[in-house]
Amino acid sequence: MSPPPTQKPPCDWSCSAPPPPELQVPGPSTGFPGRVAMELGLAGRRALVTGAGKGIGRSLVQALHAAGVRVVAVSRTQADLDSLVRECPGVEPLCVDLADWEATEHALGSVGPVDLLVNNAGVALLQPFLEVTKEAFDTSFDVNLRAVIQVSQMVARGLIARGAPGAIVNVSSQASQRALTNHTVYCSTKGALDMLTKVMALELGPYQIRVNAVNPTVVMTPMGQANWNDPHKAKVMLDRIPLGKFAEVENVVDTILFLLSDRSSMTTGSTVPVDGGFLAT
Ligand SMILES: NC(=O)c1ccc[n+]([C@@H]2O[C@H](COP(=O)([O-])OP(=O)(O)OC[C@H]3O[C@@H](n4cnc5c(N)ncnc54)[C@H](OP(=O)(O)O)[C@@H]3O)[C@@H](O)[C@H]2O)c1
Repeated sequence: MSPPPTQKPPCDWSCSAPPPPELQVPGPSTGFPGRVAMELGLAGRRALVTGAGKGIGRSLVQALHAAGVRVVAVSRTQADLDSLVRECPGVEPLCVDLADWEATEHALGSVGPVDLLVNNAGVALLQPFLEVTKEAFDTSFDVNLRAVIQVSQMVARGLIARGAPGAIVNVSSQASQRALTNHTVYCSTKGALDMLTKVMALELGPYQIRVNAVNPTVVMTPMGQANWNDPHKAKVMLDRIPLGKFAEVENVVDTILFLLSDRSSMTTGSTVPVDGGFLAT
């Protein structure tokens, strides 16, 4: 049965009809060639993305840049930032190890006004529970949790001082809510990050700063490849995912863009799975 004439056609990110020019994502270097951007209204805002050198963070910077957002790209390896700036002229690189509190304080101290923050930098140091080391524990919590608190404090204080609204997205994981073998420390950092997201939403909501998390399944970034390349291990995980596949970087980026935008203006304190249904099982 055909829909009634007044019904709008379904809107998605990749309509087959040619999009109007203002919604076409330009440039083969965006990582999103030919895709159609939902009008997110992000142009002109200033975003800070951590872990911008590789993987999800790098693709996110490319997408934000293509959407007209001014981006501060924070990462640890200068060469990654150099190539990112070549691809996306105008992106402001900031090289710092987020595990170092004092260096981060110094590097971000004069970063200027930021409207949108994505706490994406993370490490996954896998060890059996009985072999967990103090070093892996400290590094993981310093990067995956403590740096999120520190960078978010700096950005939120700036927003509050300006009386400006803001949006923060924390990149968590499906591992925050399910036990995975050898993931003692990683699961613990991400479980804590989910709860941090809720408390931040509670305390920053009155300032119109929204805070949400995305919880991806495996994505074959450098981190994903380091931990899930073994086909037997991957199959065990794939068998637990109703859609039977891992996530693409674009799946995670799209969800982050939505949570940064006013399209999600009533959503805060949420943990949004990008997991093919893993957490539903
Ligand atoms: N890939 C997955 O399967 C998956 C699944 C669920 C959630 N996640 C989460 O998604 C986020 C991004 O992961 P990804 O897969 O894109 O990882 P990735 O490929 O390893 O990239 C991580 C980026 O973060 C940077 N970074 C790491 N530690 C840092 C530090 N101390 N200071 C500054 N930058 C640092 C890395 O820089 P260097 O390379 O220079 O160290 C790199 O540019 C992480 O929070 C991760 O936990 C990933």
